[in-house]
Amino acid sequence: MYVNFWYPICTAAELEEKSPQRAELLGVRVVAFRDANGKASVLSDTCIHRGGSLSEGKIVNGCVQCPYHGWEYNGEGRCTSIPSMDGKKIPARAKVDSYPTCEKYGVIFAFMGDLPEGERPPEPVVEEFDQDGWRVCDPLVFEIGGYFERSVENGLDPIHNEFVHPAQGAPRVESDQVQVQVEDQDWGSSFLVNFGAYTQADQRQKVVNTDTAEGLKAGSWHIGPNTLVTGIYLPGDNTFIQYFFEQPISKRRTKIFFINARNNSLGADKDKWINDTFFNIVAEDRVIIENLRPFATPDTLTKELLTPGDAPIVRYRQHLKSWENKGWRIDWPALQNTDDDVAYAIPSPARRESGNWVHDTIPIVPTGS
Ligand code: FES
Ligand SMILES: [Fe+2]
Repeated sequence: MYVNFWYPICTAAELEEKSPQRAELLGVRVVAFRDANGKASVLSDTCIHRGGSLSEGKIVNGCVQCPYHGWEYNGEGRCTSIPSMDGKKIPARAKVDSYPTCEKYGVIFAFMGDLPEGERPPEPVVEEFDQDGWRVCDPLVFEIGGYFERSVENGLDPIHNEFVHPAQGAPRVESDQVQVQVEDQDWGSSFLVNFGAYTQADQRQKVVNTDTAEGLKAGSWHIGPNTLVTGIYLPGDNTFIQYFFEQPISKRRTKIFFINARNNSLGADKDKWINDTFFNIVAEDRVIIENLRPFATPDTLTKELLTPGDAPIVRYRQHLKSWENKGWRIDWPALQNTDDDVAYAIPSPARRESGNWVHDTIPIVPTGS
């Protein structure tokens, strides 16, 4: 798991609740709520007084109030009220980490790291949103019992469709394409391959009414470690783009915010049909991912026997390594070993501007290790 990327936290609909919302990701807890200006705020969930969980508290005047002794924190993470101190000056250390947020497509995203704005990866984007000729569904949110890297790698794997996806018509990569060509993009990489004719035309009819599958192309790209996009290009300019924004909860659990876009069947009344169709395909992947071992991707390429068709996965792992070399990879074993004794926070941008923080920052894999 990596700091310094954008992660989905919760849906905008959840923030309409009157109570603060908890999310768990990257080995820590955060609390989300709307501040006094209605802005989505995401803070470290642990109160710096004596460890209360802010998400168990209340929202009071646009601040989140700790349930234990009533300390209140605003959207910047600054403590604004300590009831037991009876109006005395609030100490400078009375602050928790607050993360940059953006609210788009019905999802609250937070930048979980301390990079200054100009150095961050771009905010998550669904390019088809608000474009003429496209329809974008509301997010479907679900959890899987697997590690997010395995989930992203599954999306970067064109070879599995033939075996895992009867609901999609079990498309097979054309034989001249099995040496998959990968292209680097900003913050990630992509591929696009041709698939041969479907073997199950009756299943294909469920996706789009077309008589020929010739010319079917599909490809995927990842942006950072935890965003996967898949494009399915059916004949007759029938395109489906799927966005998977992934929230790593632990090595064994991932929450996925899944958004479907398409340039056909544009009526809102088709959203449920589109979502159901693609969710059936996701369900086929899920059985595979949840049963992979090890849960996480192995640390070295020699612990699996990779083939030319796995090229997009190898490239993804190289990107992960480059982010590890920047000092962005969380040291999961160190975190697990000390988690009962230390309240960790992911460092926020404010840590670059001021010292004197109560909580330790999460352990990071040393660079060059
Ligand atoms: S632990 Fe939060 S106010 Fe005491
Ligand atoms: Fe799949």
